[in-house]
Amino acid sequence: MTEQIHVLGISGSLRKSSNNTGLLRAANELLPAGMSLEIYDISAIPLYNNDLLADGLPPAVQEFKTRIAAADALLITTPEYNYSIPGVLKNAIDWASRPPNESSFPGKPLAIMGAGGVMGTSRAQSHLRQIASGLNMLALNKPEVMVQRAWEKFDQHGNLTDDATRQQVKDLLLALRDWTLRLRGS
Ligand SMILES: Cc1cc2nc3c(=O)[nH]c(=O)nc-3n(C[C@H](O)[C@H](O)[C@H](O)COP(=O)(O)O)c2cc1C
Repeated sequence: MTEQIHVLGISGSLRKSSNNTGLLRAANELLPAGMSLEIYDISAIPLYNNDLLADGLPPAVQEFKTRIAAADALLITTPEYNYSIPGVLKNAIDWASRPPNESSFPGKPLAIMGAGGVMGTSRAQSHLRQIASGLNMLALNKPEVMVQRAWEKFDQHGNLTDDATRQQVKDLLLALRDWTLRLRGS
């Protein structure tokens, strides 16, 4: 029987018609056997403030951490904002890394994608890799999914319409499945 791998998908864009969230929806349609994907909306996560920890984690953060803990791997898709990842994504990651001895991330397999402009989110993705290494996540290096000129590959609702990109997403999912199984020792 195929081993089951549950993936939590996180988009760095909160926009309703986001291309990056659309990339996650496409991943959901292209899942290989043995994989499931839950797309998690980070919009309810408050701005990080250490003072809030005095009353325990805010419920939205607790829920986010619970979903990460239940996932075998993460799939983060990020736009590029000012040569880096959007603040909302960094904020969610910062929250889930706290308290320090209860970080959600060490040892978690991670795959990264992004849809953007002519650089295809390459600068944001390299920042995300740096953040992931600081959190001791196990990021898959290849294949890279850097969707260039996203406006040509998504419709106005953020649905992916480009077959070549669909194939890239499919290849990434297969690699993430193999990566997660390898780290599991299967
Ligand atoms: C504040 C801000 C900064 C941005 N900076 C960059 C950038 O540095 N490089 C880039 O390629 N696109 C940049 N963009 C364009 C976004 O990448 C583009 O809006 C993208 O489609 C957003 O992804 P989404 O469709 O998933 O919302 C920026 C957009 C915003 C709002």
